[in-house]
Amino acid sequence: MRIDILTLFPEMFAGPFDHSIAKRAIEKKLVNIIIHNIRDFAQDKHRTVDDYPYGGGAGMVLKPEPIFRAVDTIRTGELAPCVILLTPQGRLFNQKIAGELTGYSHLVLICGHYEGIDERVRENLVDDEISIGDYILSGGEIAAMVMVDAIIRLLPGAIGSEASVNEDSFSGGLLKYPQYTRPAVYRGLSVPEVLLSGNHEAIAQWRREQSLLRTLKRHPELLNKVSLSEAEKAFIQSVQKGYTSGNDGEPRGWKGYDGNGC
Ligand code: ADE
Repeated sequence: MRIDILTLFPEMFAGPFDHSIAKRAIEKKLVNIIIHNIRDFAQDKHRTVDDYPYGGGAGMVLKPEPIFRAVDTIRTGELAPCVILLTPQGRLFNQKIAGELTGYSHLVLICGHYEGIDERVRENLVDDEISIGDYILSGGEIAAMVMVDAIIRLLPGAIGSEASVNEDSFSGGLLKYPQYTRPAVYRGLSVPEVLLSGNHEAIAQWRREQSLLRTLKRHPELLNKVSLSEAEKAFIQSVQKGYTSGNDGEPRGWKGYDGNGC
């Protein structure tokens, strides 16, 4: 996969892809990330990239010419890239969209800045508009980093074992079950006994239940999007009615953060 990123601040991208999974994916040539300075495509002597909005109003607007020119330069391959504008006005990014975007061999990400971008870019150059959340960032750069990170780790071979991608929170549509490692008891806090039992079937069932409970508590809207067995539906209903499956009252995942913040 090739990812071209158009930005006014290329220096911001020094770092995020130099570590961990992204670094390895680049080294393995699973992905080629190319950062372009939009200013390099401005043709006037001041390399102007923005101007006042027609009709007046506060702030500056990104000019169309450097962005069109940059995309024209990048669009060289036979397959047209998917051109995405990062903007708070876009559709909300999620794991499903990350997965869908791995289906493209070439993405072009345009990082917006200032008060906006000339509408002709939106209408004539951009195939998709994506927001990473309902808040306003200073620009699209951090949003692009978030997207690229989420996409790269889904590329086959990017992560050591496929299993760890498949067991992620969100893959399969549910949040991940609680995880523990040694020691079995720390400050009097013990690991759930079932995980030490060696009973793989019981462990799998416990994990599935915990995933369901966590999802119900924290992101209940996700439950409408996954297919559940009749037994699982009944389990959720019983929890919703106020019953809990744990033998110690509340299920474990409900202690600490309860889905409602500090
Ligand atoms: N640019 C500014 N805010 C943004 C957001 N929330 N998502 C994507 N791009 C942005």
